[in-house]
Amino acid sequence: MSLWKHHVKLERHSLLLVIGIVLVVSVGGLVEIAPLFWLKSTIEKVEGVRPYTPLELAGRDIYIREGCYTCHSQMIRPLRDEVERYGHYSLAAESMYDHPFQWGSKRTGPDLARVGGKYSDGWHRDHLMDPRSVVPESVMPPYAFLVQRDASIRDIRAKMKTMTALGVPYTQEQLDTAEADFEAQADPFSMTAGDLRKRYGAKVVNRDFDGDPERVTEMDALIAYLQMLGTLVDFSTYEAGDPANQR
Ligand code: HEC
Repeated sequence: MSLWKHHVKLERHSLLLVIGIVLVVSVGGLVEIAPLFWLKSTIEKVEGVRPYTPLELAGRDIYIREGCYTCHSQMIRPLRDEVERYGHYSLAAESMYDHPFQWGSKRTGPDLARVGGKYSDGWHRDHLMDPRSVVPESVMPPYAFLVQRDASIRDIRAKMKTMTALGVPYTQEQLDTAEADFEAQADPFSMTAGDLRKRYGAKVVNRDFDGDPERVTEMDALIAYLQMLGTLVDFSTYEAGDPANQR
């Protein structure tokens, strides 16, 4: 009975009511938000995830510049239909070196989080030159000009340094060899590709992505980026929550 009386007091005084609401709502906030300040990390590190190579980083910048994210997401949700279509759902760690992340919010085209290795380099080149040459019903615009433009090697080291400032752990050696690694990855006959792999992992391949061996074009960079998407984590051995997957 007395509780009821107090309630009447609260409902009649708007200031008291507001204070009451703030108190109640803040409990929810504290329970949900406060623990995050004591967690060492909200992203579990996963074996295989590494920073982008210089050529992939340049390709990623072209992806952003051209607004590919306005039609493509890079985030496979843990729902059965998505996993059956696109593969294993995205892990937070897979975009931990993405600044800004490319999760996207619209899918005019399919999700690209695991498009790496799905098609040949030649398919990507044809598709980007003229999407309707390989997918007749496609509404994707052509990006043929990418084969004419040299990928910008001039600012690659500065871009990597910027990433370092944002928390990407490029080593001093990786920064020092940025230009060499950039060119090595686009050259199938590179003499220094072994060093590139030593710095970025055995899975990195050096290829002539765009079919033009004379130059490193924006097409090279973009295809190098597309071909590594979603390929870093080995899902044949990955099990969620298993400490053996973490480094
Ligand atoms: C106007 C929307 C639109 C834009 C912008 C766009 N795409 Fe697409 N994309 C599509 C559609 C629709 C498809 C599906 C049909 C097809 O394969 O062409 C597609 C398919 C793709 C595929 C094949 C995916 C798969 O799994 O089959 C890739 C790769 C791709 N796009 C890359 C890109 C890149 C890289 C860019 C930016 C340079 C880009 N797209 C920009 C609409 C778009």
